[in-house]
Amino acid sequence: MAEEILDLRAVPKAEAYRQLDRHVRAVLHGVHDPIAAMATMSALIHHAFGHLWTGFYRVVEPGVLLRVGPYQGTVGCLEIAFGRGVCGTAAAEQRSVIVADVSDFPGHITCDARSRSEIVVPIMNGRGALIAVLDIDAAEPGAFDEEDRRGLERMVAWFAEDSA
Ligand code: SME
Repeated sequence: MAEEILDLRAVPKAEAYRQLDRHVRAVLHGVHDPIAAMATMSALIHHAFGHLWTGFYRVVEPGVLLRVGPYQGTVGCLEIAFGRGVCGTAAAEQRSVIVADVSDFPGHITCDARSRSEIVVPIMNGRGALIAVLDIDAAEPGAFDEEDRRGLERMVAWFAEDSA
């Protein structure tokens, strides 16, 4: 299947997320596999916005440990404890975390030294259990705002609707 690659860097964020969401849902139509969904979302988000790193950390021990899942970008840290770094904080507190300047976030874990800002969004399954977090890192400070949080939270709602 020849897949269209959306470049949404010049599109206002609310519209960009609407297009991305439609695209993700069209590609995943009929698929009920969370890993396939993580791989698809990483690729689509990464190429749409051109950020440094876009990917998932999966809950492998609830309340204890996250391990890297599908991603796009340079090599990511393999494991992150709940409560550590931006990903571990979002997982432990089950809330989205936006970091405008990573040097202001105590305990930020540096996987790519070029990273200046970050957003992490928790992902629940249909039973309300945390299964992963989505992490996006950008090379410029202040890349993410409430529009990104809303757009990404809407996209990852797929995992509560379509996966076991
Ligand atoms: N910066 C993240 C670690 C993961 S990487 O950036 C890919 C954190 O502080 O949790």
